[in-house]
Amino acid sequence: MFHKNLKPFPKNFFWGASTSAYQVEGAWDEDRKGLSVMDMGKHPEDVTDFKVTSDHYHNYKEDVALFAEMGFKAYRFSIAWTRIIPNGVGELNPKGIEFYNNLINELIKYGIEPIVTMYHFDLPYELHKKGGWSTRDSIDAFENYAKVLFENFGDRVKYWLTINEQNMMILHSNAMGLIPKESSNPLKDTYQQNHHMLLAQAKAMKLCHSMLPNAKIGPAPNITSVYPATSKPEDVTAASNWNAIRNWLYLDIAVYGRYNNIAWSYLEERNATPEILDGDIEILASGNPDFIAFNYYASATVAHSEMGEKAGNSLGDQQVVVGEEGVYKGVSNPNLEKTEFGWEIDPIGFRNTLRDIYEKYALPLIVTENGLGAFDKVDENGEIKDDYRINFIKKHLEQAQLAITDGVELFGYCPWSAIDLVSTHQGCSKRYGFIFVNREEFDLKDLGRIRKKSFFWYKDVITSNGEKM
Ligand code: BG6
Repeated sequence: MFHKNLKPFPKNFFWGASTSAYQVEGAWDEDRKGLSVMDMGKHPEDVTDFKVTSDHYHNYKEDVALFAEMGFKAYRFSIAWTRIIPNGVGELNPKGIEFYNNLINELIKYGIEPIVTMYHFDLPYELHKKGGWSTRDSIDAFENYAKVLFENFGDRVKYWLTINEQNMMILHSNAMGLIPKESSNPLKDTYQQNHHMLLAQAKAMKLCHSMLPNAKIGPAPNITSVYPATSKPEDVTAASNWNAIRNWLYLDIAVYGRYNNIAWSYLEERNATPEILDGDIEILASGNPDFIAFNYYASATVAHSEMGEKAGNSLGDQQVVVGEEGVYKGVSNPNLEKTEFGWEIDPIGFRNTLRDIYEKYALPLIVTENGLGAFDKVDENGEIKDDYRINFIKKHLEQAQLAITDGVELFGYCPWSAIDLVSTHQGCSKRYGFIFVNREEFDLKDLGRIRKKSFFWYKDVITSNGEKM
């Protein structure tokens, strides 16, 4: 829809940016931090230097001062479960609690609202060894961890995100190491783990409301509009299939406490429905989000797939467009440009996604990730001219403003990422930040911070509340 008069970004809009603990902090084995699955993981060659990431743990004051200089109103970061409870359950680690107290206090000193993700891919390795999300014990462990977070930080943290991109963890379960090797029905195992995570999330939301009546909490999946490749009705059905399995399954449960019927029938057909115990549905219904946080990088385009047709062998669309026979087939969208990492760029898809989510759930929305990964280079004058990033974010913000004009209640925009960090899939050279971190893949250099051109641009955007883009 065309609008002649755009609504402004709301007053008190949460302009900010995001990071996650294992990608930015470093100090992965310091001050009694326990190991997480990400520390044990498959980062490009398991070298210690790599895990130093951006060494934010030792530089948080300098980093927060830079965030304040950019004018951040909010900062979305994650707490490493293993810094707080090294084994996932049991003894607390006072040094971990101290670190996040310091970080939160530093943010508040500058008037920056802390928005805390409780769990961003980094399950404690000790829990993983005991079966991870396959066992219901992890539900209790997460609820207990949530209680510790609310007790220690709830006096200052008013915005909580439960689980980052649970849908991507499930859809990329192989890559995320979720599937036990001996599994005879990996899909069923995966969706059993999904069920347990959903229960853990519902319990945390309920607990938050009872312990912290003034705080707000919500899920943080990766949501994107799914386009049919053509107007062929079969393609539209394929898009609806993928929408249900990729997106709505997660939000229908978080918001309405019920399984999406299309996703459920997909699981039934594959003998992969999770075991649901007495009381589970009540637990799912008892956790109500106050808002929906979501990450958006690109839209997805799919076509009809016949049975017997090779449509790809794993689910997921963030970087590789794949599919599943008889369900959908991922295709590339000829109308879109791609980043140098091959991710499609679709700012209008961002508006579409905002509209879709709000129309379906009518809850306030906050964007907790959106951004462009690139091989930024420091030029001969010591500057990083990342005009491509400015252009990317500008185009997405223009569409966000159109969505606001459409009536979508959007209360914040926190792109990925506040500062350069280690990418989940592609190492340190894939940079997303407004602040450059002077290191290379396997050379830590001085880890110095350099303001990129986008830093100054974003500062102006924030100061003008989005009027000057
Ligand atoms: C999201 C994750 O999936 O995408 C982040 O929440 C991740 O942790 C981001 O870094 C970008 O992906 P990548 O692989 O480019 O780092």
